[in-house]
Amino acid sequence: MGFEGTADCVYAGAGLIVAKITYIEAGGIEHVVDVEAGWSVMQGAVRNGIPGIVAECGGNCACGTCRVYVDARWKEKTGTATDIEEATMDIREDADPRKRLSCQIKVTEELDGLVVRMPASQY
Ligand code: FES
Repeated sequence: MGFEGTADCVYAGAGLIVAKITYIEAGGIEHVVDVEAGWSVMQGAVRNGIPGIVAECGGNCACGTCRVYVDARWKEKTGTATDIEEATMDIREDADPRKRLSCQIKVTEELDGLVVRMPASQY
């Protein structure tokens, strides 16, 4: 008897797509985790218990406490911030041009290997 008809079968058969993402705390501690495609970079951190991303609004682009810094080589694949994201980032004083809201970066296969850094504080 196999797994036919069970959730396990569907899960394995679907070939779960994940991207390996490295989150680097401000102090230099690295966390490398597999994040499921379709999640946000923020969800990948929160669901894996990675410190440094607060995400007070739960991913609604309203709090600005999920900031990460995206290296230039990943800029194209992670896309650019929308006007709403830019406005939310302006809530926090942070002049770093690499900043993005991690709740607004959707994980895809293309982001396998992504490296993001967290600020010393989200406030
Ligand atoms: Fe609040 Fe991203 S979680 S802006």
